[in-house]
Amino acid sequence: LGTTTSLAHRRELLAIARRLSKPVIEDAYEMDLRLDGPPVPPLFALDRSGLVVHLSSFSKSLFPGVRVGAVTARGRLVDALLALKQATDLSDAMPIQAALAEFIASGDYRRHLTRLRRVLRGRRDALLAALEEHMPAGTRFTRPQGGYQVWVELPAGVDTSELLADAVGAGVLFTPGAQFHHDGRPSSALRLSFALADEAELRRGVAALGQVLRARGSDAARRADRVPI
Ligand SMILES: Cc1ncc(COP(=O)(O)O)c(C=O)c1O
Repeated sequence: LGTTTSLAHRRELLAIARRLSKPVIEDAYEMDLRLDGPPVPPLFALDRSGLVVHLSSFSKSLFPGVRVGAVTARGRLVDALLALKQATDLSDAMPIQAALAEFIASGDYRRHLTRLRRVLRGRRDALLAALEEHMPAGTRFTRPQGGYQVWVELPAGVDTSELLADAVGAGVLFTPGAQFHHDGRPSSALRLSFALADEAELRRGVAALGQVLRARGSDAARRADRVPI
């Protein structure tokens, strides 16, 4: 959602996991997309108790169709994961793994990431500048140092699930904040992605979203004008 967990927070989380003897699954699917800011070690690198299961994926840094990722664990968890894997399927897609291994060993993956991070930084900056310009007063949003998502909190009173149809009509698709609530209660937040749209499209999209919000605001104001006292 556009935030990076601090080192102190990571250490605290591991201390709690250790105290409760609970495993932690670290879904590090955006790890290769660190855009700027100081590097923060993954939980797996900080863990000394063998409680962390680290997941990585090439779906975001290359493309979803690669279908190759990795599970990294230590100690007892490895046996449990191996048994689970054997029960799930008998073999992986070896040719694609071999091609990927070669792509990484040749240095092409590293060069690809350098280019991808540059493109994503440009898109992030364009999106944040457009949000500054077009969102209503009182809007707050994250400034991601990694990944490709921004979490936007509109002023209270806007239900973003309700807003979605108008936004789609204006050519803008987002994920309403209610989808991140376990009970689906309404939310004035939304998640935007800058993975696909280029800088010009992002600027156009945010301007269109601002227009939709202003139109709804004036509709609401007109309705309020008509409320009998
Ligand atoms: C939260 C989360 N974790 C991991 C992934 C990557 O999944 P996969 O490697 O199966 O494509 C995704 C992809 O959408 C995701 O949203």
